[in-house]
Amino acid sequence: MGNFYYKNGDLFCEKVKIEDIAHEVGTPFYLYSAEEFKDNFTAFEKAFSGVDHLVCYACKTNDNLAVLRLLVKEGAGADIVSGGELFKALKAGFSPKKIVFAGLGKTEGEIKSALEADILMFNVESMAELELINKTAGQLGKKARISFRINPDIDPKTHPYISTSLAKSKFGISIVNAIDAYSVASEADHIEIVGIQVHLGSQITTIAPFVETLKKIIKLMGVLKNIGVNLKYIDLGGGLGVTYKDERPPGPEDLAEELIPLIKKTGCKIIFEPGRYIAATAGILVSKVLFIKETTAKKFVVVDAAMNDLARPFLYDAYHEIVPLKEDKNKEMIADVVGGVCESTDYFARKRSLPLFNEGDFMALLNSGAYGFVMSSNYNARLRVPEVLVIANKYFIIRKRQTYKDLIRDEEIPDVLK
Ligand SMILES: Cc1ncc(COP(=O)(O)O)c(C=O)c1O
Repeated sequence: MGNFYYKNGDLFCEKVKIEDIAHEVGTPFYLYSAEEFKDNFTAFEKAFSGVDHLVCYACKTNDNLAVLRLLVKEGAGADIVSGGELFKALKAGFSPKKIVFAGLGKTEGEIKSALEADILMFNVESMAELELINKTAGQLGKKARISFRINPDIDPKTHPYISTSLAKSKFGISIVNAIDAYSVASEADHIEIVGIQVHLGSQITTIAPFVETLKKIIKLMGVLKNIGVNLKYIDLGGGLGVTYKDERPPGPEDLAEELIPLIKKTGCKIIFEPGRYIAATAGILVSKVLFIKETTAKKFVVVDAAMNDLARPFLYDAYHEIVPLKEDKNKEMIADVVGGVCESTDYFARKRSLPLFNEGDFMALLNSGAYGFVMSSNYNARLRVPEVLVIANKYFIIRKRQTYKDLIRDEEIPDVLK
């Protein structure tokens, strides 16, 4: 559990007893460990220190400004997918020279903002997008640095909802069309071709798809060289998995061992866009048991967090380990852990063997730092929860709990209805 651990029966985050935060802040809330973010980022950095590289944190994973800021301070770049993420990345202090812009639905406005910021490169997903970037760059009197996102048609063997590199996927440009794409781009007046990008999917637990992809890229680069296209960057995207239950994913050092010999042959700078690997283990969702409910069929632990706070279980049937803030190793129960939202999919665990929970007990849903808060919503008019960051022996509220006023802040009743 890294920077989350038990001491004398109490769950700690770094040097802070989590129960103290629960009493002071109220539940539910997300809790992050700054040290865990740093450790995970550093592991990536270190693993690839033998080659020219850039680690661009995938901001979508957890885009709280304080989290982004702490990664800026560690030297990270940013992988963004929207104008909003560009805005937040710049606010947090990322150097534009370390920002890469992915996504297959970039708007003209977003492209313009990114050109004005002078980001490192656009990862282009279609010829129509290339045309728009070329046109927009022309209007601004600039040249846009681009990579094509190539779809290598490789099965990353992960959940279908987070698998993005099969031929049928909406992402990228088919590898068979890559040569044509680069030829067209090389003729465009306001485009500077700088690289090639792929992103295979998320929660990938083997090295083979990355190696297979890099080999395909190197082969493609050979053909591109013959038509006069030389690349500076190979961006292998994100996707490295973490252990939620019993997965045994490779670490960055395992990945590096296999990839570095291949990378060295290319002479290119390697870019990675890890998100989950950096953020997942750095966060937990803390919740309180409201009721223990027994029906004729089952026992339910009803908690004050719900599917609107953490979507992964209902979205991907994802597993999050659930532990009490006060450890009691001797007593167990089998139950479903559910929230109070009016949907049967509002659950965090089903028929799970758990430590014994009673009403009023606090629990932590582990490994919730990635795709946790960012996917939360106000469904059922529930308030978005606070985010709290622990740095060593202190905690900081890095996002306030919403209030009922926040719920209606952007809404208006038209005069005709008054
Ligand atoms: C283009 C791109 N890069 C990086 C990531 C981050 O992936 P992960 O969190 O699995 O590392 C994603 C996730 O969807 C992505 O779409």
